[in-house]
Amino acid sequence: MTRTHLLLQEKVTEPVTYEPSRDTIQGMTTKISPQTDGPIRIEGEFEIVDPMGTPFGLAGRTTISLCRCGHSSNKPFCDGSHRKMGFSDAVVARELPPPMPKL
Ligand code: FES
Repeated sequence: MTRTHLLLQEKVTEPVTYEPSRDTIQGMTTKISPQTDGPIRIEGEFEIVDPMGTPFGLAGRTTISLCRCGHSSNKPFCDGSHRKMGFSDAVVARELPPPMPKL
């Protein structure tokens, strides 16, 4: 997850953008690991919100799995259906191309 913050300075009329380091996001440490043939596991400090920004109640969980097979009956969370459905997708870390400039 990438967050961009805008820093407005008094005498500068243009906003200055910067990418905060992991330590500047309120000490947040989060690990996101897509699993081969399975869900996306999230561990650490995180919040999951609906499209309106309302957080899901996670009952104190610090690890959760999000469905990436599309078959869960409890989306966005994994319910194990990926096994029954034979979901298959290998996960290998790779470099992404640079982001396209925003217009
Ligand atoms: S990844 Fe587990 S149900 Fe979709």
